[in-house]
Amino acid sequence: MPVNVSSVGTPATEDPRLDGRPVKRIAFGSDEIAARVRQLGREIGEAYPEGDLLVLGLLKGSFIFLSDLVREIRRPLQVDFLVAASYGDAMVSSGSVRLVYDPETTLEGKHILLVEDIVDSGRTLSRLMDLLSERSPRSLEVCALLHKHIAEYLRYPTKFVGFDAPNEFLVGYGLDHAENFRHLPYIASLQ
Ligand code: IMP
Ligand code: MG
Repeated sequence: MPVNVSSVGTPATEDPRLDGRPVKRIAFGSDEIAARVRQLGREIGEAYPEGDLLVLGLLKGSFIFLSDLVREIRRPLQVDFLVAASYGDAMVSSGSVRLVYDPETTLEGKHILLVEDIVDSGRTLSRLMDLLSERSPRSLEVCALLHKHIAEYLRYPTKFVGFDAPNEFLVGYGLDHAENFRHLPYIASLQ
């Protein structure tokens, strides 16, 4: 019998996408994620009644979240990406942030919404926000799918948060461990 991998709390050991890697539990199921992303899209649409909106996805972790999210924002917008390198293959933050790809679109005078997969220590985000705020955007806010609320380094508030995350290592729906498991349609906690 195949396990129902969309239900929260179910061990997903039989999911072939996991390649035998044990997961502790499913933290957020795909239906729950979809419902929350719809709400977030509505919230974001209402928060920006006018002006140019540029949604900046931080790659690679935000790629699935961003693509679902922008389809739920019912107002004009543009999409671009940032690539920052921070973690490598480790499960703990190294603290160094490097911009590998910088958006070509100008940020000046626009509402910038930076989309992140997860806020952990907050180092990545703080460094990026410093960089982006120097480019005279009309506003600069963060939308994170997950927030661990342990961010000692975060000097900026996260305006839009999908879910409060447990302090565990999470994979799926864009989040990786050593580049694996990004394609899980749910978010699981690794053993
Ligand atoms: P921070 O700079 O410590 O906030 O870490 C930010 C980045 O680390 C995120 O954008 C993720 O790419 C990665 N990260 C942090 N926690 C996790 C996790 O639980 N699973 C997968 N990646 C994570
Ligand atoms: Mg990562």
